[in-house]
Amino acid sequence: MKFHLLILAAGEGTRMRSKLVKVMHPVLGKPMLTYVLETAARLEPLSATIVTGKDGKIVNDLVGNFNFKTVTQTERLGTGHAVLTAKDLYAGVEEPLVVVYGDNPFLQSETVAKLVEAYYTSEAFASVLTVEATDPHGYGRILKDKTGNILEIKEEKDCNEEQRKITEVNSGCYCFNSKQLFKALDRVKPNNKQNEIYLTDVIGIMVSNGQKVVPIKILEEWQTLGVDSRQKLALANMILRDRINEHWMTEGVSIVDPRNTWIGSDVIIGADTTILPGTHIQGTSIIGGDCLIGPDTIIADSKIGKGCNAQFAVIKDSEVFDNVNLGPFCYLRGGAFISDGAKVGTFVEIKNSLVGPKSKVPHLSYMGDAVIGKNVNIGAGSITCNYDGTKKSKTTIGDNAFIGSDTLFIAPVEVGKDAMTGAGSVVRQNVAQNEVVAGVPAKKIKGK
Ligand code: UD1
Repeated sequence: MKFHLLILAAGEGTRMRSKLVKVMHPVLGKPMLTYVLETAARLEPLSATIVTGKDGKIVNDLVGNFNFKTVTQTERLGTGHAVLTAKDLYAGVEEPLVVVYGDNPFLQSETVAKLVEAYYTSEAFASVLTVEATDPHGYGRILKDKTGNILEIKEEKDCNEEQRKITEVNSGCYCFNSKQLFKALDRVKPNNKQNEIYLTDVIGIMVSNGQKVVPIKILEEWQTLGVDSRQKLALANMILRDRINEHWMTEGVSIVDPRNTWIGSDVIIGADTTILPGTHIQGTSIIGGDCLIGPDTIIADSKIGKGCNAQFAVIKDSEVFDNVNLGPFCYLRGGAFISDGAKVGTFVEIKNSLVGPKSKVPHLSYMGDAVIGKNVNIGAGSITCNYDGTKKSKTTIGDNAFIGSDTLFIAPVEVGKDAMTGAGSVVRQNVAQNEVVAGVPAKKIKGK
């Protein structure tokens, strides 16, 4: 079924009281508009256009990731006015125009498809997605005739007391006959409490022209949540958290406290992994099976292999292979590659470094721009001094090296395989294979 799609995203979001445009506020780490754009992409409309506001650069940048157009609504004069900004694109098209709001992040593509189907099969001039609201406050009320067709949508502020009692509300998703939509919009006046050009007034105009408007009532209220306040933003986060946790538990992941575990919508987790409370897994992270993650761990845009443990850890933009132990209290700050069977222990920070298979950095260390071979032991308190104030330099530590506690590596420097440093060494020069060094600056000593 062919249709065009228009997404309204220019609203100021006055109730959010924010510098950030409403539709860019994140739900589980992702701007709410992204969810709408992803749904739009799944629907494969003939074309999709996003109405952005005059401060819409940030929105335009996001839309740039999708193959959609944008139009700018320079003055925010209401939802009807927002649709009028796309008049040149759609007033003459034969196919219907679906309008959705950018602050409805949970609307599912199947639901929009049903709305379009209802438009075609009932030969209506418009179909409107409605819902029985648990709390109808703030939503437009659906006024119907005896046959169940829609007569009018009335905004709460313009309702009388009787109309306010109606609990079936407008969800903000419509499928319109494009030509009739723009004809009706030309007649809409801002004669209401908010002095806005309401898109919803089009419905009454169509009906008065004898054009049929049908409701499609959706049973899943969560799909229709319009996020226009910080309270609804918190609710949106909780709804999505519960849905995602439900999904992963069905897939064989144990989540000990689902209300205190926050997993992003693009995360993937293997079966038989257990997630302990206070854990946040964000972005495009992938967690293997049989892991124990948490408590109180943050994993963002990182890959964790099978059979890993991470307690009180923060892991960002990094890759951890299989059977690795992380923490308690370690920080993989970006570009960390931790190989099979390695350990990164307590109060250890790793940045832009490779830790080889079965190597250990157990306590109180900083490894930056380092390449550490296999079976290396890094003693407590060791640090790569990788930054001289202007440039970063590399430290290389060969396989089986044994690094004494409190060793400082003044990069660039290389330590050969099977080499050893004494406690408190300051390594300024390369250390050869099998060599033992100690002191400040570290010098070769005989024997181990
Ligand atoms: C709107 C509906 C209401 C419905 C509710 C569902 C109207 C008049 N009312 O009310 O019936 O129950 O949504 O959530 O449509 N926008 C623009 N430009 C503008 C104004 C708004 O692009 O000038 C966009 C906003 O970014 C937002 C959407 O339109 O994504 C809805 O706007 P909003 O002001 O939140 O409408 P509501 O008052 O919630």
